[in-house]
Amino acid sequence: MLTKRPDQKVLGYLGRGLSMELSAVQQYSTHARLLAAWGLGAAADKFRKEALEEMGHAERLIERMLAIGAAPAASHLRPVRLAKDLSSLLLVNREFEAEIVTLYESAVRHCASEGDKDNYIFFDELLKEERHHHAELDAWLKRLQE
Ligand SMILES: [Fe+2]
Ligand SMILES: [Fe+2]
Repeated sequence: MLTKRPDQKVLGYLGRGLSMELSAVQQYSTHARLLAAWGLGAAADKFRKEALEEMGHAERLIERMLAIGAAPAASHLRPVRLAKDLSSLLLVNREFEAEIVTLYESAVRHCASEGDKDNYIFFDELLKEERHHHAELDAWLKRLQE
């Protein structure tokens, strides 16, 4: 039983998060296919795995929405950004991960200021994972540029 109305700002963060995670699934699945077509099998595999991880994030957001009595309604699926080579794809994706990090940082700050411990923990876990994605892409890009 729900005893209080869900926080509208938290619902907003969950909705935006879901739109971004589903956009990431679309983008990384596309990049995986593109890399495979370029003959870069190992890089394609990495992005295929990445797309599955992002799908896992989308599922966690959906689960959270249902737990607080909200119907998932991602409404802003972004068009995939394409690029002409691996480094350019990594750049585009590093930028995307940085945006997701910024979104979850602000969700975490909001939950902290409201004393909303459950949602704080929820967004903080996603934030840590997205920071990790960002760091991985950053390291990969640096290795390519060496
Ligand atoms: Fe994600
Ligand atoms: Fe990510």
